[in-house]
Amino acid sequence: MTTDPHYDVAALTLEEKASLVTGRDVWRTAEVERLGIGSVMVTDGPHGLRKQEASPDELGLGASVPATCFPTAAALGSSWDDELVRRVGVALGDETRANDVAVLLGPGINIKRSPLCGRNFEYVSEDPLVSGRIGAALVQGIQSRGVGTSLKHYAANNQETDRMRVSAEVDERTLREIYLAGFEHVVRTAQPWTIMCSYNRVNGVRVSENPWLLTQVLRDEWGYEGLVMSDWGAVWDLPAAVDAGLDLEMPGTGGRTAADVVAAVRSGRLDEAALDRAAARVLALVERVQPALADPGTADLEAHHALAREAAAAGAVLLSNDEVEGAPLLPLDRAARIAVIGELARSPRYQGAGSSQVNPTRLDDLLGALEAELGAPVPFAPGFTVAGVPVEQADDAALRAEAVEVATEADVVVLFLGLPAPEESEGFDRTTLELPANQVATLDAVAAANPHVVVVLANGGAVTMPWRQHAPALLETWLGGQAAGSAIADVLLGLREPGGRLTETVPLRLEDTPAFGNFPGEARTVRYGEGVLVGYRWYDTRDLAVAFPFGHGLGYTTFGYGPLTAAVRGTGAETTIRAEVTVTNTGARRGKEVVQLYVADPESAVVRPVHELKDYATVVLEPGESTAVVFELPARALSYWHPELSRWVVEGGAFVLEAGASSRDVRARTEIEVVGEQLWGELTAESRVGEWRAHPVGAPLLADAMASAPELDETMQAMVDEMPARVIAALGLAGFDLDGLDELVARARRG
Ligand code: BGC
Repeated sequence: MTTDPHYDVAALTLEEKASLVTGRDVWRTAEVERLGIGSVMVTDGPHGLRKQEASPDELGLGASVPATCFPTAAALGSSWDDELVRRVGVALGDETRANDVAVLLGPGINIKRSPLCGRNFEYVSEDPLVSGRIGAALVQGIQSRGVGTSLKHYAANNQETDRMRVSAEVDERTLREIYLAGFEHVVRTAQPWTIMCSYNRVNGVRVSENPWLLTQVLRDEWGYEGLVMSDWGAVWDLPAAVDAGLDLEMPGTGGRTAADVVAAVRSGRLDEAALDRAAARVLALVERVQPALADPGTADLEAHHALAREAAAAGAVLLSNDEVEGAPLLPLDRAARIAVIGELARSPRYQGAGSSQVNPTRLDDLLGALEAELGAPVPFAPGFTVAGVPVEQADDAALRAEAVEVATEADVVVLFLGLPAPEESEGFDRTTLELPANQVATLDAVAAANPHVVVVLANGGAVTMPWRQHAPALLETWLGGQAAGSAIADVLLGLREPGGRLTETVPLRLEDTPAFGNFPGEARTVRYGEGVLVGYRWYDTRDLAVAFPFGHGLGYTTFGYGPLTAAVRGTGAETTIRAEVTVTNTGARRGKEVVQLYVADPESAVVRPVHELKDYATVVLEPGESTAVVFELPARALSYWHPELSRWVVEGGAFVLEAGASSRDVRARTEIEVVGEQLWGELTAESRVGEWRAHPVGAPLLADAMASAPELDETMQAMVDEMPARVIAALGLAGFDLDGLDELVARARRG
């Protein structure tokens, strides 16, 4: 990659190389003055630039320069619109570049393992396909502007509780299929300039010192070419980290850890070649960003605000829109008497707290935006107090009484509920999925006075909704960024449709959630006991009722699905599938549909989720218009990670493809027959009789060797099938002894 001799690692002394693999300070890489190698700045991320000029700190305490606060990942990801997300990436890249920053620290694509994770607003989905696609689109958009990204937090950082020490105990199949798959997709398709390793341990090994994650999987298998930096303070032993594959410790340590690296090389503990490799990657990053730094350009903040507004509407999920007296409540009738209730309508909750907190260039609120659009004042009552928001009246009962009065005078009430900021943040997890009781009490009272209630929600992670029968229309807006207020007004008035679909299941109860009982762990350990059954994979496989399923979301029109057809090409690892379904806009207005394709493998040697999302397409159609949606699936879409063979395998047999509008709204399905791979592992004395009997080479050999053994009835055979070959030999059930077994194993090995 190096073209300029400036950036040749061979020109550096040992001390200079060591100084490069740790930061200069909180946000900058080290310079090498002697060679004219400058320092570059990296900064949060992900949904807006948080560039601190004075008093840098990583906790978000110091002020940062104004920047567009785009919708958080929870909201942006809910658009399922790769193209829109790419455009947001371009805008983020422009702001990064215009501020002389080399790398924007994002996107974050950790899986939402539990809705309690305090940082879920910063993550995309409970599903790795959606996380990977949205993550890749952001990376491509940002990097198209000549600045870098940092895909984070690699890996298995799915909670905030004890995140800096906890060991995530996860089996390899679950890691590969759920927790690494999104990262793999982004690396393979978008090559982020940098990746940020997480604080936690995985199966006992600190990620910053984990050669399996940082080198074997990331580079040797996925072909990653960029730089790996640490999360802020995630390095405990820099020489060990460099040895494992880390390239840059952040932030810097004032020279302390650079000295450790020099000493480690001198003592032979660290191979200098490993240091050369890491230092060369830092040089490559610094070199790569030079054109952007030389020509920062300007960012069009007006246009970015408009894009933030478009994106917030595209990510707003209309969960229900029931008919009340013969008509759905949304879009609102402009001629109706509309009232707004809820402090959050004038004091918006639009982003989360912690390192991602942006200082917005502007801030829209729903009440102001509705009034501007309607050209008249809208009756308003705050309705309840919100922790962290100062109010003139702190008596909830009085606020509720006032809200009921306002509701009584209206034809329709927009009631804005949500999680108070202190309840969700980076750094700690939530303890409940419920909305604050004072808000629910106001909803109950308002709905009793006026059943025409549109509930709007602002929250970073899913909330339970036992009150949802009081909300005939329910709009989940997540944390929608600085333009969320005007975007919600657009959606309520029908100027834009609600474009979002759930990227996470809304459960009925915390007790139903997949990680319940295994989250957040104890004694520095969290066991991922639910395995691959994460999110809808759990709810659907266990057939649990949910409040709203993964993939769900309504628009202002309706869609019909034709039959799903599919053609299989190739066999085994070379299998590909082409599936096609025609989708028609059957309603009266232009609208968007997110066509989801799920794959089910009804019979498998391993526990497989009842179905898994393997592709999606976002289409926009005029009334009456139809389009053929084509999906090209690679073999990977059928595969599972074989725990013993340690590779992806395609098992032969029937698969079912499903096209639908959510994981629970399958509109068309078809069955295909796939010719699988030879999955026979090596037979040993420890292999079970059942495995011998299913093996094309082993079965006849065993049958032959057991010819003199007594006949087994069905029950006995089932018992014996479960026994290792050595045990049946030792118990005298085989008709051969241990020497005979050695002979049998040797013959099986010869084939
Ligand atoms: C967060 C990262 C962030 C970094 C720098 C850490 O605490 O986990 O996401 O990029 O701080 O602010």
